Amino acid sequence: MKGIVLAGGAGTRLHPLTVAVSKQLLPVYDKPMVYYPLSVLMLAGIRDILLISTPRDIPLFKHLLGDGAQLGISLSYAEQPAPKGIAEAFLIGEDFISDTPVGLILGDNIFYGRGLVDKLYEGARLRDGAMIFAYYVRSPERYGVVELNAEGQIASLEEKPTLPKSNYAVPGLYFYGPDVVDMTKTLRPSARDELEITDLNLAYLKEGRLRVSVLSRGLAWLDTGTNRGLMEAGQFVQVIEERQSLKIACLEEIAWRNGWIGAAEIEKACGRMGASAYADYLREFLAREVRE
Ligand code: DAU
Repeated sequence: MKGIVLAGGAGTRLHPLTVAVSKQLLPVYDKPMVYYPLSVLMLAGIRDILLISTPRDIPLFKHLLGDGAQLGISLSYAEQPAPKGIAEAFLIGEDFISDTPVGLILGDNIFYGRGLVDKLYEGARLRDGAMIFAYYVRSPERYGVVELNAEGQIASLEEKPTLPKSNYAVPGLYFYGPDVVDMTKTLRPSARDELEITDLNLAYLKEGRLRVSVLSRGLAWLDTGTNRGLMEAGQFVQVIEERQSLKIACLEEIAWRNGWIGAAEIEKACGRMGASAYADYLREFLAREVRE
């Protein structure tokens, strides 16, 4: 399974914050937003990852994350010149995907909590068809909305409906078999001139090849789409990290736990992170877990 982080878009809902820099590079408490979705793919065991962003922002992501070797992963980059839809990621990533299954995560989606890794493994095991998730929210009309029948199967799927048929939003994390590129090529741009991810999922649904997995209440899916959501996501991360003395989305920690890097890489990361709290955390982690 390969992975794609989609981190483009104009970010107009957060202007002026995003006039000069990509939304997915904004801070969420102590790290850039993109760390969180990247950590999710790594937690799913995915090591071959394509990051898609705007021509303006790709150099910044490269500066931040490089080729991924320091994390024991392979990171490559591709440009999306204009925000022509989330599903366009599969056309841009056609050569990268080749004939492998792929997981897509939106660069502004943050997940945390109990049961996440099991759900991710479930997705990463997918070899055919498609898999989406469902998360109970108060205001589903701002998202893709999935309606489930009594058997837990998909009864309907709609993008930002004015009158949602359920409270289950579809988070920005999707898993597909290798035919996702061909399936995307059958789509036509929507009224807002985008290749819609919901249209792609509907195409799988029509063929009876779309599965849904409900995320439990014990899991947090955080919104970064508004100033308030962004601030609250940062506060959430701060509260959890201070309470537990553990970091959410510490990429080096995840890479080490996955057996992808050793102590030497963590030491080097400490050097790169300067006098930050992130570097302190890595040093403590090194002393506590790695050298034990
Ligand atoms: O966050 C989950 C929701 O994401 C889903 O429930 C919706 O079904 C899905 O359409 C999407 O809704 P949004 O309103 O959040 O989509 P938005 O256009 O804001 O794009 C989401 C992220 O993807 C955003 O950070 C920018 C990035 N993006 C978006 C588009 C359309 C791109 O990088 N390129 C694009 O062409």
